Amino acid sequence: MPTLSIKDIYVTAHKKPILHGVSLTVRQGETHVIMGPNGSGKSTLANTLLAHPHYTVTKGNILFGTQTISKMPTDEIARAGIMLAFQNPQIVPGVSLTNLLTIALRKREQKGKQTKLIEFTERIKETAKKMRFPEEFLSRSLNEGFSGGEKKKSEMLQLAILPAKCVIFDEIDSGLDVDALKLVAKQISALRAKNVSVIIITHYHRLLRYIKPDKVHVMHTGRIVRSGGPELAKEIEDKGYSFITGEKE
Ligand SMILES: Nc1ncnc2c1ncn2[C@@H]1O[C@H](COP(=O)(O)OP(=O)(O)OP(=O)(O)O)[C@@H](O)[C@H]1O
Ligand SMILES: [Mg+2]
Repeated sequence: MPTLSIKDIYVTAHKKPILHGVSLTVRQGETHVIMGPNGSGKSTLANTLLAHPHYTVTKGNILFGTQTISKMPTDEIARAGIMLAFQNPQIVPGVSLTNLLTIALRKREQKGKQTKLIEFTERIKETAKKMRFPEEFLSRSLNEGFSGGEKKKSEMLQLAILPAKCVIFDEIDSGLDVDALKLVAKQISALRAKNVSVIIITHYHRLLRYIKPDKVHVMHTGRIVRSGGPELAKEIEDKGYSFITGEKE
């Protein structure tokens, strides 16, 4: 599986500079954690990886293996195997989770290979059952009226169904109860067992009780200001960010 190489990227949103020279390399099967105070640029980095239209890479580039994904549209990046579980998943009226997933699965099929629709819907139902995600959510409009935790579960279901090589989780653990958190940890472990690369953006150490990352990075004002091992996440939880950013609490 390909290595994700973010090379010294500068990113603006509506002409406002937000990221100022971010570099990060995530090799096959590695798990990296990105922490950092509110507004430090974590979601901007995640959204930039998927070519969100609000964000422009003004300098540097992003490679996935040999493909320059910073020059590719979102659907091509997704088909290359990079997926993002959103911090704030969008409501999509009129489109159900089953609609979305069957279309996405269809698009990933090789030419001349048509899986029966019923096989897709059965696969989706079975996976939802395993994740204890009630079937009614599969036919409701995507994320409409879903609770915070249900939205996150819907993101996890999409990740369990669609094939991925690199997955970014943007605050997947925020607002989850203990059981849902364990479920998320299980899903992430399953991805790791398949050698998928994982980037976890989080404010908390609690998910890291179940998942031991290879590296932890801290962002501050649009830059990665510190990188280390799992102990860095614990240190941040104990001391706050001020010992890294130098700001007074
Ligand atoms: N589309 C946008 N237009 C204008 N400013 C933006 C846009 N997106 C992000 N920003 C600004 O960029 C900065 C970084 O935002 P970002 O959402 O990346 O932070 P974050 O590290 O994910 O924070 P949090 O921990 O609160 O989720 C913030 O000051 C934010 O207001
Ligand atoms: Mg964010």
